[in-house]
Amino acid sequence: MGRLIIISNRLPFSIDHEGDQLNLRQSSGGLVSAIKSYFESDSSKNRGFTEKLWLGVADFPQNEWSVVEEKLSGRDFQIVPLFLNKLLYKDYYNGFSNSVLWPLFHYFPNLVESNVHYFDAYVKVNRAFADKLIPLLQPDDTIWIHDYQLLMLPELIRAEKADATIGFFLHIPFPSYELFRTLPAEWKTSLVKGVLGSDLIGFHTHDYAQHFLQSAKMILGVDSSFHSMQYQDRLIKADLFPISIDYKKFNKACNDPETKQYYNEIKKNFEGKKIIFSVDRLDYTKGLMDRLNAFEHFLDNYPEWREKVVFILNIVPSRDDIQAYTERKQQIEQKIGTINGKVSTITWQPIIYRYTHLPFNELAALYKAADVALITPLRDGMNLVAKEYVASCSGRKGVLILSELAGAANELNEALLVNPTDTIEVSKAINRALTMPEEEQEHRMFLMQQRLSDYDVIKWVSDFLDQLANVKQEQLKQQVK
Ligand code: G6P
Repeated sequence: MGRLIIISNRLPFSIDHEGDQLNLRQSSGGLVSAIKSYFESDSSKNRGFTEKLWLGVADFPQNEWSVVEEKLSGRDFQIVPLFLNKLLYKDYYNGFSNSVLWPLFHYFPNLVESNVHYFDAYVKVNRAFADKLIPLLQPDDTIWIHDYQLLMLPELIRAEKADATIGFFLHIPFPSYELFRTLPAEWKTSLVKGVLGSDLIGFHTHDYAQHFLQSAKMILGVDSSFHSMQYQDRLIKADLFPISIDYKKFNKACNDPETKQYYNEIKKNFEGKKIIFSVDRLDYTKGLMDRLNAFEHFLDNYPEWREKVVFILNIVPSRDDIQAYTERKQQIEQKIGTINGKVSTITWQPIIYRYTHLPFNELAALYKAADVALITPLRDGMNLVAKEYVASCSGRKGVLILSELAGAANELNEALLVNPTDTIEVSKAINRALTMPEEEQEHRMFLMQQRLSDYDVIKWVSDFLDQLANVKQEQLKQQVK
């Protein structure tokens, strides 16, 4: 068994400067938490990879690398940082990745900013990843590329390393062909061709996989049968692998003394009140305005809950130099102010809002303390917060209200599934959750917990890597014939 090379735009840590001090913080988002959990598990040690590497863009200048490297010592995976020109990175990250692909793939075509410089930068950065990686490659390496920022990378590697083992996983939805086709011809062709450089292409849901296969057929005429394609004389598979979480880590977190301390403080502060909890990266896809409208509607229509409930809303800073994000932040903060101003009393404020990164133990305590988790994105590839909440409800008490438009809704059917834009439906669901008998809460939680503990992040990684190895075997058999 050779080495495992993970490639993603973001490295698993970000740098915070505190005066002269330089601190490492785990990066936000599902991709990083999933792969990091796998790397830290015994399973990744047992699989027999001789080495594990993670290649991504450095969010710090090259002259700080030695300090960062020192802080990273002791980890059993190696970081390979890619240093990029700031302006190029901006056009690739803020531009093509997050102002073209992200809004389009999440069904917000009106937010797409088509700009030819963005596309050029995207091509250049994918090329820079390939140039960094290719000289490092060894024959037995398994390369696993992640997410929409690197759609072109598989093909660039394949062009120079025909036999390489390349997996690709998309962590966000792949949109229907009707939407994808709105991209300029050169862009959409390059993107689909780029992904087809892989041996195995993974998606969270059956629908996303089907959408991709249809785009491959319509744009390049590639036929597929049972998730397999033959492209440029090579077998490629596209299949579904719903990402999961480190179930045990969240399930056991409540026993940790630090979590207990946070938990006791929260319970004491909100004694006698029910807690509704939301945590999301700042993103228009998360449906925060609709959620606040629904909460306002709930307070207006179920006034008996006033002074008996608090909504703790934690927004995690993200992409805050993109206009679509900063605008939302202002709107959200105004709305929170309006609701709090309208119904607060001297002793009660309905929304407790924070804009911050939450340390793990505090997050785990909030999950445990929450009577209701309100997770209502307008679109979400999967949504791991929903899964983390379920895993954290150690006593099986608590109700999950989940958007039917999140990938996670396919697996968490016992949640109260809602349409996130339907204010009345969401406010009714809040009331139903708050009044749900304990027995029903436990029953629903039990079923969801069983499913998540059976298929955790370790299984997700193992499944993907097993399938990737199978595709390589099948390719070899085809060559022999
Ligand atoms: C989502 C994406 C990831 C991304 C994460 C955080 O989970 O699928 O690729 O890393 O959001 O976003 P950021 O832009 O801060 O990396």
